[in-house]
Amino acid sequence: MLSAGTAHSEDIKIGLNIYSFEDMFLKRYRDALTFEAWKHGVKFFAADANKSQRKQNNQVSEFIATHVNALIISPVDRNDVGDLINRAKRAFIPLVFINREPPKEFLDQYKKSWYVGSDTSGAGTIAGGILADYFKNHPEADKNHDGKTQYVILKGEKSHQDTQIVTERTLKALTDAGFELDELSGDYADWQKFKAVVKMQGFIYLARGVENIEAIIANNDEMALGALMAIKIHKYNSGDPEKFIPIVGIDGNTEALEAISKNEIIGTVLNDAETQAAAAMSIAVEASKGHEINEENIGFNIIDGKYIRVPCKKITHENYKEFLK
Ligand code: GAL
Ligand code: CA
Repeated sequence: MLSAGTAHSEDIKIGLNIYSFEDMFLKRYRDALTFEAWKHGVKFFAADANKSQRKQNNQVSEFIATHVNALIISPVDRNDVGDLINRAKRAFIPLVFINREPPKEFLDQYKKSWYVGSDTSGAGTIAGGILADYFKNHPEADKNHDGKTQYVILKGEKSHQDTQIVTERTLKALTDAGFELDELSGDYADWQKFKAVVKMQGFIYLARGVENIEAIIANNDEMALGALMAIKIHKYNSGDPEKFIPIVGIDGNTEALEAISKNEIIGTVLNDAETQAAAAMSIAVEASKGHEINEENIGFNIIDGKYIRVPCKKITHENYKEFLK
């Protein structure tokens, strides 16, 4: 028999490891987890894997050596978590993956492993819906009057589970709303603002001018803000209604909310880090205490005993204030 776990919250230590501390969404997520740890009255330690899976594996072993009771991990390479799982499993440490979803066969290898993420397909549908609403209200947005939407798209990491689903769903929401799409350019900018600036400059060049782009879709806020920087150089989205390209992002980070408030981007989708953090921390704490993980003690709907997918919300100029902290 395994030990029954640690009964008192103040004796519990939770270790967090994040694929990169530079990621803005995960920065927000880390703050939310810190707050949750405080609410639960548990000790909490965070480490930065610096985009190295090997480093992350070793840091996890260090956490285990310092007797953490549970681990919360945003894996560097979601397709290469076998080593991580083995290390946690050998030490009987519960393991909650967040944000970067390992394939199911990995989670099936270890009973005390779970995944907490967002409802990715919902996020795409909402993002596409924001653009569809905009086009319905702005027929002049079809600048070349060809009945199609000339768009460019900035995608997240190629290997990330969100990238493909979000992209597909965003485009589907637009075609379902009756818009015909014409992709001018699209590329991976790996969630990063400055990569997005550079990609966007390339898209503008390929489109033979910023005026030929009718929409910018970005798989996250950082890339949406990068695209904004690139078109602002051309005096776009800077107040002149003749020079405007609708941009939509995903995450609902503070900087994106500010851009919405200034009408620089038309909207974003709440990737609810705060609720995801609450779910991940509840699992970590309950599992540390040796409790079974079920909907009653966690307060979240659990799919197949292992998956929690937190719903997303639409954010536009109408309601952004509700999300400002
Ligand atoms: C996504 C998020 C991105 C980025 C990525 C990292 O869920 O929308 O901004 O943080 O996770 O895995
Ligand atoms: Ca057009």
